[in-house]
Formats: sequence, structure tokens, C-alpha cells
Amino acid sequence: MKIDYKETTSDLLARINIHEKYGTRNIDDWMIATIPLKEGMKILDVGCGAGKQCFSYFDTLHGKAEIVGGDVSAELLAKAHEENSKRKTDIVFTALDFNQPFDFEDNTFDLASCSFAIYYAEDIPFTIKEMHRVLKQGGYLFTTGPMPENKQVFYDIIKEATGKTIPPMPGSSRYSTEILGAVKSLFSHTDVIIFENPLTFDEAEPFLIYTRASLSEDRKLWTSFFENKDEFEVVMQKIQSIAEKRIEQEGKIVMTKVVGGILAQK
Ligand SMILES: C[S@@+](CC[C@H](N)C(=O)[O-])C[C@H]1O[C@@H](n2cnc3c(N)ncnc32)[C@H](O)[C@@H]1O
Repeated sequence: MKIDYKETTSDLLARINIHEKYGTRNIDDWMIATIPLKEGMKILDVGCGAGKQCFSYFDTLHGKAEIVGGDVSAELLAKAHEENSKRKTDIVFTALDFNQPFDFEDNTFDLASCSFAIYYAEDIPFTIKEMHRVLKQGGYLFTTGPMPENKQVFYDIIKEATGKTIPPMPGSSRYSTEILGAVKSLFSHTDVIIFENPLTFDEAEPFLIYTRASLSEDRKLWTSFFENKDEFEVVMQKIQSIAEKRIEQEGKIVMTKVVGGILAQK
């Protein structure tokens, strides 16, 4: 499946910021508690974006690990490099396209992670196989993605605003099925751990910032909604009035993120 997708730096950072401000729980803390991290590990983070997970591993392991972050976006890698210099950390950030064979030897890493990215792969089994190949025997794969019930209210409001059916999202429609299946078929042991994080908005504005950053990220998937830029703005205005009405009536909008963590051992 070819997915025409490019994450923009500002959209990704806008969503991360909204999660940090309005979420009840911290997903980075959950990941750190879930992944069996150990000092001395060799770690590869695939689709690392601006390096959020890599920095979190580095801090947890007090820098006593070899960490590599790979991403296809030169813009996000530049952000990661900037942060690496600012923090004086020695994480290696490198170009990596997960639709191509990875430029690493077999049996290299103790942990391969991929957070909110794998479902954009053109050929999921190929990408999982590459992650499996570069892992040492006994090494861990950890990946996160949205479950089908993820942020239901977000889709309900868009549906109400447009009267249209929501197209299947590559994440929530594939994560707990195709991706989990591909992992199970290769790894000797696989667990699924669920993380729920309600984001509570008592005003419409942050919800709209989140919506804009999500819809523009996935704009290519919403072609029936937005054929041109004007249409995007018209839809955003409708979403705004529905969100404002809900807040007036119910006092808040609670959007629950439901994330699946897949932890597997080679
Ligand atoms: C939602 S972001 C997640 C970034 C980061 N893991 C995080 O959680 O903050 C998805 C990431 O997947 C990356 N990505 C998309 N297609 C890719 C590809 N073909 N190869 C590698 N990375 C890709 C994007 O550039 C982006 O950084």
C-alpha cells in the first residue's frame, strides 16, 4: 500500500505540545516503564522524527547506551541534530527510509523501536522484517500506534461537522491487525499493552490547533473532504462551531487517546 505522507515539523511539534499540556498521562513515561531498557544497550529508533524517544532513552540510561535515530524527513532530522548539540548528547541521527533495506548489519541492536510511524510503511511485513533482521537474538521490538477506538470524539466532531463518513486511517485501521499480525509471525514472543490518555479541553482553541495539525498531516487521506485549501478552511470553521457548542453544553471535550504498545522478543 503506497501512502503519500510527509509529516511537517510544525504539525508534529504542535500535536506533541497539545499532548503534553492537556493529557492526563505522559506517554514517554509509559514507554520507558514498558520497554526493558538496560545500560549498555544498542538502540535503533525508526521514524524518530525530532528525536523525542531517543532523548528519552538517553536520559533514562544516563547516556550509557549507543542510540541511533533514523528518519526520512531531513527537516525533522535537522531538529534532532539541533537538540543533540544543545544537550551535548551523542545520539546518532541518520537518514533512514523504512521502505528500503536498512543500512545496518544483521544482529546489531538490542532494541528496535518505532513510535507512531510504522503504519505509514508501504509494505508493513517488509519493514517489520528489517527491524527483526537488525535485532540481536533475544533483542526487543517496541512499537506504538493508535487502536481502533483511538480519539473517537475527534472523529465524531468531524463527522457531525461535515456529514461525511470518516475514511479509514492508516494507523487505527491497521495497527491492531496487520501490524500486530506481521510482528507475531516473526517474533518468538509478543505482548500488547494498552495506554489510555484522556486529553481534556475546556476551551475550543487547543482542540482546534490539534485538529488542524492532525488533518493537515493526513490531508492526502481525506481527499473527499478537502479538494482544495478553501474547502479545508470551510471544514475547519464548521468543526470550530461544533466544538464551541459542545464546550458550551458540556463544559469540556474529552478526547481519549488509545494507544497500543507492541513489545516483542526475537
Ligand atoms: C507521527 S511522526 C512520529 C515521530 C516520532 N517517532 C515521535 O513519536 O515523536 C511519524 C514519523 O514517521 C516518519 N516517516 C514517515 N515515512 C517514513 C519513512 N518512509 N521512513 C522513515 N521514517 C518515516 C516521519 O518523518 C515522522 O518523523
